[in-house]
Amino acid sequence: MGARYHERVDEHVLTPTRDPAEARFEESLRPRTLAEYIGQEKITANLGVFIAAARSRAESLDHVLLFGPPGLGKTTLAHIIAAEMGAPLLITSGPVLERAGDLAAILTNLEPHGVLFVDEIHRLAPTVAEILYPAMEDFTLDLVVGQGPGARTMRLPLPPFTLVGATTRAGLLSAPLRDRFGIVHRLEFYGAGALTSIVRRSAGLLAIPVADAAAEEIARRARGTPRVANRLLRRVRDFAHARAEDAVSLDTARFGLERLEVDGFGLDELDRRLLATAIEHYHGGPVGLKALAASLGEDEGTIEDIYEPYLLQLGFLQRTPRGRVVTDRARRHLNYPIVAGDQKDLFPPEEP
Ligand SMILES: Nc1ncnc2c1ncn2[C@@H]1O[C@H](COP(=O)(O)OP(=O)(O)OP(=O)(O)O)[C@@H](O)[C@H]1O
Ligand SMILES: [Mg+2]
Repeated sequence: MGARYHERVDEHVLTPTRDPAEARFEESLRPRTLAEYIGQEKITANLGVFIAAARSRAESLDHVLLFGPPGLGKTTLAHIIAAEMGAPLLITSGPVLERAGDLAAILTNLEPHGVLFVDEIHRLAPTVAEILYPAMEDFTLDLVVGQGPGARTMRLPLPPFTLVGATTRAGLLSAPLRDRFGIVHRLEFYGAGALTSIVRRSAGLLAIPVADAAAEEIARRARGTPRVANRLLRRVRDFAHARAEDAVSLDTARFGLERLEVDGFGLDELDRRLLATAIEHYHGGPVGLKALAASLGEDEGTIEDIYEPYLLQLGFLQRTPRGRVVTDRARRHLNYPIVAGDQKDLFPPEEP
């Protein structure tokens, strides 16, 4: 015991988990159909149309690229796409496919109209991605047989399939790969209403009675992210148990969230440290990502993929060509004085 709660938050709340129990928990809360999928209405409406059309023509669905910050439901959507197509789903990921042969083996074993989900597709090795281009475009596989001057290319037909790619970093995809997706969707942070529905739905599935105000409080502090909402709900339930409450009350939700060091905007300890470091050590910026990461003792990728998107969304941080800049809004939230003129040269006031 004696674990400090924010350490658990740091490890688990934002990122895909390595803990099998947590993974089972997430899995159990996954919506299984488009109708059950809450929010992202534009995406679900479009996918619904494309899936119905593909089904009525007995074709495979166009390749789908889903991108956006972690925990917003990309993997969930990949499962739903396969289920709605009535097609088998095969799951792999960019870093797992080390050699072209790994992907070739998967592609040749796909069932007709099957769905292949490649998570973290931005981490696909270039040699592996090259196999993917003709496979996606013409459903063919170009195999190089032999070595040296005797090597020749064999072209094999593949069953038609749908590739669903997911990434937190669409910017890292090569143009040829990106261009081969017929359907491209960016997942957005969820609004408070959708997140409240997600908390209620999860509470129902987990048989945790939650007061309406408590569900809203959890949703409000879940940084726009269903994964975070579910994890906060689970932790807050523990506090309700400790207090021998039958239902999670607003007071307990607030108490639990305080203990988890999740503030009113859903920021956790690292978010606040990031902003404070930029203010205290770099006059609020502009500060380069590298310098900021080094000062925090954190990985650049973690900051860029996991922490920054929500801070940008909140308007607490801005990206400029010269680096990251902390906004007055963030200073106010963290009770730092607003320094007049500090950012004048970067953000001249707009002309009326
Ligand atoms: N629209 C939604 N409605 C209800 N629950 C959702 C929704 N989207 C996601 N969730 C829940 O959030 C959890 C995380 O979603 P998911 O694993 O699909 O995110 P992801 O975008 O793949 O994240 P990562 O980039 O880290 O892989 C799921 O377990 C699911 O229960
Ligand atoms: Mg995922």
